[in-house]
Amino acid sequence: MYDRPARLIIRVLNFFRQWTLVIRISARALAAASETRDFPLVPWRFRREGSLVSATKVTADMIRTMKGQKIPALTAYDYPMAKLLDEIGIPLILVGDSLGMVVLGYPDTTHVTMAEMEHHARAAARAKPNALLAADLPYQSYETVSSAVANAKRLVAAGAEAVKAEGGRRILDQVRAIAASGIPFLGHLGMLPQSVREEGGYHVKGKVESEREALLADAQALADAGAFAMVLELVAPPVAKEITQRIAVPTIGIGSGPDCDGQILVTTDLLGTFPWFTPKFVKPRLNAADQMRAAIEEWKKSI
Ligand code: KIV
Repeated sequence: MYDRPARLIIRVLNFFRQWTLVIRISARALAAASETRDFPLVPWRFRREGSLVSATKVTADMIRTMKGQKIPALTAYDYPMAKLLDEIGIPLILVGDSLGMVVLGYPDTTHVTMAEMEHHARAAARAKPNALLAADLPYQSYETVSSAVANAKRLVAAGAEAVKAEGGRRILDQVRAIAASGIPFLGHLGMLPQSVREEGGYHVKGKVESEREALLADAQALADAGAFAMVLELVAPPVAKEITQRIAVPTIGIGSGPDCDGQILVTTDLLGTFPWFTPKFVKPRLNAADQMRAAIEEWKKSI
């Protein structure tokens, strides 16, 4: 029916049509693959036996169901640390306002601003961790229900997947409103670093009966208001144990003894990259500052 040149043209056109299809399908497959690579798999060698940490994205609900397990949590303020902690299989990474002291050089956390928290949350979020990435609502950013929700949303827009704020019954309306807006809330009880100026220092909480009762009531109230877990900082260890036994969501201790569900540390304390101050309860596992000094000295001499 067609003459030879026409048949040739049809064959060439079909050839191109087939290849366009192949290229389109491959491009779609590549895009899908890079989406999964955005959440890098936790390498098998880093996975802890019996841990719930898996190759899937960790959610606040997953942390909640880890009650009774030893949950390791650490802080990260930037991309490389968030990526490193995630590759090791840390399920909960906190962009803590401790960054005010160990990164920004402030005397305490009360100087940290929302803009600074957003900046560091963004950096850590670029690691696209499998871990749940929580970020602190900084000092005075959650005084009212509307500021708490608006600022929690800003942190989420910066890449946080959960927010933490300090206090119990005092901030319950804020906690309820944050949880109701769909943002997972991590509580923080005990010594509250944002109150250091009123309290005149960092003191262990729960040593007297009135504090023990207040902590128990605050912990229960936070759990009832929807917190998926709570940090217990510098809580007398027997009281931290009692809270852990009584409430249904995981407790994550820092300087509160061994009986919390999980443990959290400021990563620079653990690694010794901020050697000018290390809290008494931390045993650094590395003196990174010494090693950095030695390496830099050696390089300086070599030039
Ligand atoms: O800001 C912080 O780093 C914290 C600690 C609990 C680790 O809140």
